[in-house]
Amino acid sequence: MAKSLEEYCVANSIRPSALTFELADYTRKAIPGSNMLIGELEASLLSFLIHTIGAKRVLELGTFTGYSALCMAEQLPADGELITIDVNPGTTELAQSYWDKSPHGKKIHARLDGGEQALAALKGDFDLIFVDADKVNYPMYVTWARDHLSDRGVIVVDNTLWSGKVLSENPDQHTAKIMEATRIATGWDDFVATLLPVRDGMLLLKRKR
Ligand SMILES: C[S@@+](CC[C@H](N)C(=O)[O-])C[C@H]1O[C@@H](n2cnc3c(N)ncnc32)[C@H](O)[C@@H]1O
Repeated sequence: MAKSLEEYCVANSIRPSALTFELADYTRKAIPGSNMLIGELEASLLSFLIHTIGAKRVLELGTFTGYSALCMAEQLPADGELITIDVNPGTTELAQSYWDKSPHGKKIHARLDGGEQALAALKGDFDLIFVDADKVNYPMYVTWARDHLSDRGVIVVDNTLWSGKVLSENPDQHTAKIMEATRIATGWDDFVATLLPVRDGMLLLKRKR
């Protein structure tokens, strides 16, 4: 999409707080891998979903510097909760320092651990599960998400186009795992799916009514 058209979309969509812009800006200037941040349109779609399904309990795999977590927490009700998982202590500490500046930060609970271990320790179901961590575990993450989704819940899997590499005939390991996760999730007969070409691809999954 042309940059000017994307800006028009962003300008007419839910916007997060000024603090999230500060955090994204700092991440771009100071933290390696800042291209891992979700884009503004993705943030607006996640926010829209939170309102659409009336989400109260959100799980995120892949905290990084806490931008997507803060964007989502801002849209949750006061008694809402967002658990976010990451293995990186440095970026999680930075994330926490920004959440501490926000009135919505108290809704966010970071789990500093590998995804698989952190998931094993979680209790209860989630209304929105956002998968955005290590790609090799995507098949396991989507399978876990299916089993821990509330009735009204939605699963969102990021990077499902992987810069177009999902069309490759000889995919590398990460691409193959993303493709496998998509194949698994879109094969669930009791779910509906839509894969949107927003940024790097967002696969949305919802149990049929
Ligand atoms: C794409 S970034 C997340 C970006 C974040 N959602 C945002 O937009 O602000 C992916 C994150 O996954 C984390 N990660 C990598 N391997 C992991 C693992 N095995 N378990 C949990 N997190 C992992 C990385 O440390 C990185 O911060």
